[in-house]
Order: sequence, then C-alpha cells, then structure tokens
Amino acid sequence: MNIDYSSVIPNNVSLGNDRKLMRALMSWRPRFLDWWDEIGPVGFDQDEIYLRTAVSTEPGGWSRFGHVRMSEYRWGIFLADRVQDRRVPCGDDAGETAWQEVPGDRRSALQSLIVTQADTEPASVEQQRRLGQTAPSLYDARNLFQVNVEEARHLWAMVYLLHGYFGRDGRDQADALLERRAGDENRPRLLEAFNQPCEDWISFFCFTCFTDRDGKFQLGALAESGFDPLSRSCRFMLTEEAHHLFIGERGIERIARRSAQLANIDPNGDPRGQGGIDLPTLQKYCNYWFAYCLDLFGSEESSNSSRAFSMGLKGRWKESQVEGDHVCASARTTILEVKNGALSEKTVPLRRAMNELLRDEYIIDCQRVVERWNSALEAEGSDFEIRLPNKRFYRRQGLYSQHHFDPDGNLISEEDWVQQEDNWLPSQSDRDYVLSLMKPNLTPGKMAQWISPPRRGTNGKAVDFEYVRKA
Ligand SMILES: [Fe+2]
Ligand SMILES: [Fe+2]
Repeated sequence: MNIDYSSVIPNNVSLGNDRKLMRALMSWRPRFLDWWDEIGPVGFDQDEIYLRTAVSTEPGGWSRFGHVRMSEYRWGIFLADRVQDRRVPCGDDAGETAWQEVPGDRRSALQSLIVTQADTEPASVEQQRRLGQTAPSLYDARNLFQVNVEEARHLWAMVYLLHGYFGRDGRDQADALLERRAGDENRPRLLEAFNQPCEDWISFFCFTCFTDRDGKFQLGALAESGFDPLSRSCRFMLTEEAHHLFIGERGIERIARRSAQLANIDPNGDPRGQGGIDLPTLQKYCNYWFAYCLDLFGSEESSNSSRAFSMGLKGRWKESQVEGDHVCASARTTILEVKNGALSEKTVPLRRAMNELLRDEYIIDCQRVVERWNSALEAEGSDFEIRLPNKRFYRRQGLYSQHHFDPDGNLISEEDWVQQEDNWLPSQSDRDYVLSLMKPNLTPGKMAQWISPPRRGTNGKAVDFEYVRKA
C-alpha cells in the first residue's frame, strides 16, 4: 500500500476521508512540532541529514533516502497491510474475528497499554538530545538522528490510535505525551529506563541495543493483539526498529574491536592509555543498561499481564506461531522467588507469568548479540568475553528488587554488594573517563579514536560520505 505524501500528515490510513480525525491530528501537530523544537536534538536544526523516509509499507523497498532538515521530516501514520481474515491470536476469545473497533469492556486496559508504549517514544528522543554534539563521526550522527526522527514517528503512530479510537480520553492522553519529560522530577516518563540519562555514546549504543530491543519485544507482543489497528501499527514499527537495533549492536561491536586493537599496541596493554575504552568498562555499561531494560518487562508475576493476555490485547512473542494452547486458562509454570533468604520455586498460572516469558525471549535474543560481539573480539585476538549478567542482577522492579545478586545470579549480602558494586556497574570515575572522550568528530571520514569505522556506510554510500551537510 503506497503512502499519500500530498497530505500534511503522510499516511496510508485514508486520513483524507475522516475530517474529524484529521482535524484532531492537525491540532495536535503544532504542539508536536513545538515539543520537537524544545526538547529534540540540540543543534543541527538547519543542517541537512541523509535520512530515510517511509514511502510504502511493503517489506523491502519501503523507504527512500535523501538529505533533509530534521524539522522538515515527513512524520506520518503508516499501518502494515491488513491480513485477510485475521483472528484474535490469544486469550479467552482466541480464534474469533479480530476487532477493528475497541471492545467496550477492554477500553481502559487497551488504552493503558498504548499509552505506556507511546510514552517511551518521545522519551528516548529527550534522553538522546545532546548526543549529536559529541558524535564520533558523521556516519554516527546520521544514525542517531535517524533513530530520533523514527522514534518521533512512533509517537505519531500511537497518537493516531489514541485520537482515532479513544475519543476525548485518547486526545487528553496524546497531549500528556508531550508534557512529560525524561528524567524530570515533577513530570517524569512512565518507565524508569526512560528517565535515565543517556549522555555518552556507550550509553547510546547500549540504549539502541538493549532498550530498543525491549521495544522490539513489546511491539512484537502488541503485534499479536486482537485489536487489529494496534497490531498493524506495531508490525510496521518493527520494520523501522530493526535498524535501531543494528546501530546499537554494531556500535558496541565497533567499540570492542577498537578496544582490542588499542590494547595490542599499548605498552601496558591498556586501551585507556591510547584514548580508548577498556573492555571491563564496556562490560559495566552493558550490565547497567541490560538490567534497566529487564525491568521494562514488568513484574515476574503480574495480574496486569494476565489480564492483557486473557483479554486478547497482548500475546506472547510470535503468539500466532506458537504450537498448541493459545488460551492458557489452566497452564502453570514456575518462577524463582526469594524465600527465607534463599531462592525457591513457586508455581504460578502461566497467564500471570507472561512478563517473564517475554523477558526470557528477550534474553535469548540479547545472548545471540553478545556471542557476535565475542566472535568479533576473538577475530581481533582478544580473549575477553562480554557476558550478560543474570536476570536477577541489579533489578529495581519485581521479585528480585528487594535483594542483592551478583552477575551470576547468586544472592549476596548488602555488604558484599556495596564492596563490589563499582566492579559491576560504571563507577563515577568510569563515567567521568568515558565523558572525557566524548568530543565531536564532524568532518566527513573522521572517526573518534575509541571506535572502529563501520564496515560499510549507509544505503551503499561510503563511510566518509557527507551524511550531515552543514548549513
Ligand atoms: Fe520506537
Ligand atoms: Fe527504536
């Protein structure tokens, strides 16, 4: 389905035929643009960035590239094509015809799922707003801005649902999305990982690798919603998300490679001696962001997750491809809880463990990424292995948040934690060191010392292509 670019709001949802909705979105649009101006990327507003824009929702060949100013980016509303005879994939109504309208009894549960997802989109733009100023290369600056404009488009995708299907309440929620701010004490974003500062490029790459990957899994589960417009919206967002994950994964890989190379040439074998980032520090950043992202999946045992599943609003990962039971009315599973100072198994209804199931799928995906990093390190002659910490490590939400665990998942005392914390998470001096390396490299072909060049440029262009044209 091609996208209508003649409209102020590019779309493939026939917005032109729905005057009421068009009016509502057109009144939200100037506030969105103000938000972008106020809290979007700092600087670069007059520069032309080599960005991709969606032109159709067909898989493959859906985007085109060109130099554009970010403020003139064509944010639009794109749904993946409708699947013929689509059915509710899970829950009590599994197998019924999927809903094109919001079922009355599920309205508030569905709205809160959409608002929670929507809130993360502008939050990440806010968290990353200063990073352009310390970009390690023009190639990386472009990647950052691509992520930023697409996260802002994801906000549009969610606001379309709120305006189109939730009336007055939906419009109020859409306004509130522009009022909260990442990290703001009085009006913070809804989820804690989206209030954490992201002020250096290791954090940016960890964010796009681990936090955007949480996005992949949340969108994947919402793509299995019985509410068809949400499913179609999420399916298209996933095509954009893949590139964000690529940027994060390859970014960390490039830092790791460089670290190994610099260790080889430094007389003391220390990359820091050569202006690089040592692998133990990189490991600590991965520990920090991975743990924050695990929290995003919610409590191990959760009545909300049970409700969303039984109502058919949110499925499991690839629900439609899961063999067998899609109702899960009586299935049970076990989770580990801390009881009398030790871990012990607890049997719970499967429906109440949906968060944990999705978190486990996420961990498997992260593990594959870490293995690719380690192959890259091996190819550079390093025997350092990056490892994912256990899912109980440094959790601030859920069953494990009241206790301390080491990176292997062993229960440890408060005293041990305090003693070891700086070995496992970035210390203030690690953070200061990393920040001291963050300096802009904004001439074509230049690359900061602490990161390897990418193997290829973007969209077939050379690595030293002018990805950002200075005004
Ligand atoms: Fe997103
Ligand atoms: Fe993303």
